[in-house]
Amino acid sequence: MTRYAPNWRLLAAIAVVGLSGLLASCRDDGTSVLGKTSNQTGYRGTGMVQIASKSATEALKLKNVAPPPEDPADPDSKPAKEVYQNIQVLGDLTENELMRLMASMTTWVAPEEGCNFCHNPENLADDSLYTKKVARHMIEMVRSINSKWGNHVGTTGVTCYTCHRGKAVPEFVWFGNSGPKQAQGMARDREGRGLASATVGETSLPYDPLTPLLAHPDDIRVVGKKALVSAYIPTTMQTETTYGLMIHMSEALGVNCTFCHNTRSIASWPQSTPQRVTAWYGLRMVSEVNKQYLDVVAGLLPASHLGPEGDGPKVSCETCHQGVSKPLLGATLAKSYAKELGPITGPTPPVKP
Ligand code: HEC
Ligand code: HEC
Ligand code: HEC
Ligand code: HEC
Repeated sequence: MTRYAPNWRLLAAIAVVGLSGLLASCRDDGTSVLGKTSNQTGYRGTGMVQIASKSATEALKLKNVAPPPEDPADPDSKPAKEVYQNIQVLGDLTENELMRLMASMTTWVAPEEGCNFCHNPENLADDSLYTKKVARHMIEMVRSINSKWGNHVGTTGVTCYTCHRGKAVPEFVWFGNSGPKQAQGMARDREGRGLASATVGETSLPYDPLTPLLAHPDDIRVVGKKALVSAYIPTTMQTETTYGLMIHMSEALGVNCTFCHNTRSIASWPQSTPQRVTAWYGLRMVSEVNKQYLDVVAGLLPASHLGPEGDGPKVSCETCHQGVSKPLLGATLAKSYAKELGPITGPTPPVKP
């Protein structure tokens, strides 16, 4: 039997190379080592870094490709209102711009069904299909997001494709959820907790943080505003619901808490990243979009599109973001539609959060 003496030099060399590799993989300057990429979002040394595996990043790149824009409309064209009979929201477009938008909306929302998804082919001015009426509200909604919510959507903006991705019903919508019917007696009330729900990352936190908090973002609180004044001290339920929403937001954007917060002091704004401010506007934008548009659209949809409690489908962070911090990885498709779906105003001086 032969016994080999370990080659200490070789082992030491391997250890040094391995260790430096490991250390290098902890770098937070956006470089990629050992199959991981890291990006620093906050102050150096505060651990405010997002780490992702290269394979997951590649998969997200493949999933988030925006279709190319249609060629620009030929400017030599009459106002759409003069040519067509039933133009209620696109009165500012020319005939060619209207057709360019129609072709694009078909690609974005109903590529298989085509124009007839929204139109009676015998008479394009006819409003008998509910989809056409919904589309009118959707056009107004997109114009409002692009022109009013520049502090969230920046100069990137959104199109129908941001949510729809070639499908009539966006993949990520949500409904109010008051949970399963409960037994009577002591087991009667779960208070919305204790069911591992996907909305809150399979934790036992309140499983519907979206209904109370997307409607009232000012209730997203854990820290009291004033010491010992009970009106300003959030309840345990409010705290848990806040954490539930934060998990939803992190999952929707594919990031962890330190993308927005310095965990040294989560509530502190001066220590947070600029992304938290963008998210603050996002919360208010989603609240308005659901109240002003989706609640109205609910009244037009067939019963099969409503939730178990009879409410309509609603938008959350996930409807646009779908796992990345900038929807479609920041694709600027909307810029080519500034006339049809804009104007895309960009950020305005912020109000103090
Ligand atoms: C997702 C729904 C949707 C799809 C798909 C769609 N349209 Fe439209 N279309 C509308 C809406 C909504 C209006 C009305 C706009 C308004 O009121 O300002 C409209 C209006 C029109 C009009 C004006 C009719 C009139 O006389 O008032 C024409 C023409 C038209 N579309 C053609 C097309 C063609 C061609 C296609 C396919 C390439 C198409 N549309 C696909 C929603 C759609
Ligand atoms: C912020 C996300 C979002 C954007 C952007 C958006 N939609 Fe929607 N859309 C929705 C949601 C949510 C629904 C409700 C889904 C349902 O019908 O069950 C919907 C429903 C629809 C429907 C009805 C589909 C059906 O089968 O019931 C049409 C048509 C539609 N949208 C057209 C458009 C058009 C056209 C645009 C661009 C001008 C657009 N949407 C932009 C979120 C969005
Ligand atoms: C995309 C940005 C973003 C991410 C990611 C995020 N948050 Fe938040 N968080 C916010 C914003 C914005 C607010 C303030 C909401 C408001 O005032 O409307 C907030 C508020 C909070 C609060 C309440 C602070 C107070 O004032 O009482 C807590 C606690 C919190 N977040 C924890 C977390 C945790 C834990 C995670 C990870 C699971 C997380 N957040 C992920 C943006 C984010
Ligand atoms: C209507 C679509 C839409 C919805 C809904 C939406 N966002 Fe966004 N969000 C965008 C767009 C577009 C951008 C890219 C802005 C840019 O490029 O400057 C963005 C950017 C962001 C950023 C900055 C990312 C970065 O890398 O700088 C954060 C943070 C964010 N969104 C959080 C949220 C949160 C939290 C919600 C839900 C409360 C939400 N968003 C809902 C469209 C949306």
